[in-house]
Amino acid sequence: MRLLVTGGAGYIGSVTTAVLLAAGHDVTVLDDLSTGHRDAVPPGAGFVEGDVADAGLVLAAERHDGVLHFAARSLVADSVADPAEYWHVNVGGTLALLDAVRKHDVPRFVFSSTAAVYGEPATTPIPETAETRPTNPYGASKLAVDHLLTSYANAYGLAAVSLRYFNVAGAYAGLGERHVRETHLIPIVLQVAEGVREHIQVNGTDWPTHDGTCVRDYLHIADLARAHVLALDAAAPGRHEICNLGNGVGFSVLEVVETARLVTGHPIPAVEAPRRPGDPAVLVASADRARNLLGWKPEHPDLARIIADAWALTAP
Ligand code: UFG
Repeated sequence: MRLLVTGGAGYIGSVTTAVLLAAGHDVTVLDDLSTGHRDAVPPGAGFVEGDVADAGLVLAAERHDGVLHFAARSLVADSVADPAEYWHVNVGGTLALLDAVRKHDVPRFVFSSTAAVYGEPATTPIPETAETRPTNPYGASKLAVDHLLTSYANAYGLAAVSLRYFNVAGAYAGLGERHVRETHLIPIVLQVAEGVREHIQVNGTDWPTHDGTCVRDYLHIADLARAHVLALDAAAPGRHEICNLGNGVGFSVLEVVETARLVTGHPIPAVEAPRRPGDPAVLVASADRARNLLGWKPEHPDLARIIADAWALTAP
C-alpha cells in the first residue's frame, strides 16, 4: 500500500515506518520536526517536512491507500499545565488531516490513541469497553479523536482503527527514544545508568498499589509497530475498530528500576518525590481484542528484554 505516516520522525512513528517498509509498503513521512529527528526517518521512506495541515499537498500529489497518524503532543504533565496546546494540536490538527483524507478519498486511517483515555479504570486489565474518563487533557484530546473517528466511519465510510497504546519502550532497527526533554520512566532510568543523571525520582510512593508506586504495562516498540501493519489489513470501510495494545502485565516504578539495575549492572539510585499530576495509579491492558481482530500477539513481552534493547542503543 502507499501510505502517509504523520509524525514518522518520532520514536513510535519512525519504528513503525521501518516495519511498514520491511512489510513491503511504500511510505511517505510528514513531520514538522518539532519533537522528531530527521535522521530517525528510515532510509527508503519519502520525507516531507511540514505540519499535518500540509497533508493535503502530499495526498493530492498521489493516490494513497492509508494514513497512519502519530503526530501529536503526548506528555501527560504538560497537558495539565498547558491544555490549549493539546487541544489545538491533537484535535485541531487531526480535524485538518481528516479534511484532507476525505478530500482525497483515502480509505484507511490508523490512529495513535492511548491508555490515558481510560483515566482511573474500575477494572484491571482494562478492556476497550471500560468507561473512558481521562484524568488529563492529553487523554481527553485523544479520546475526542476516537469519537471523531467513530462518526467519520459511520457517516463517510472511513475504515478507521484506533490503537490504544499502553507504555511503549525498547528499541528496534537502531531507533529508540530520543526526546529533547525526557520524561518517560525507562529512558530516564537508563540515563542514570549511563551517568547522565544522578538518580531517578520516583513520582509518588503512596499510590494504592502493592509497593506504593504507579503500575504500568510496558510494551516492546517492535510489537507495537507490528500491530499497525496488521491494523491496515483489518481496517474495514464504515467501521471504527478500537484495540488496546499491551502485554496484560503490570510493573511498578520500583520494579522497573530494579529490572534496569539487573540489566545494566548499575546501582541506579532512586529518591522519593511527590506524585505527578494527572497520573493514574494502575494501567494494565486487556489486549484480547487486538489478538482476535488483528491476529496480534506480543513477541517480546519480557520487561528485561524491553529494557535491554533500549540499553543496547544508549549504553556508554
Ligand atoms: N515516573 C517516575 N519518575 C520519572 C518518570 C516517570 O516515577 O522520572 C513514573 C510516572 O510518574 C508514571 C510511570 O513512571 O507513574 C510511567 O511514566 P511515563 O512518563 O514513562 O509514562 P506515562 O504512564 O505517564 O505515559 C505514557 C505515555 C502516554 C500514554 C501513557 C499510557 O507517555 O502518552 O503512557 O499509559 F498515554
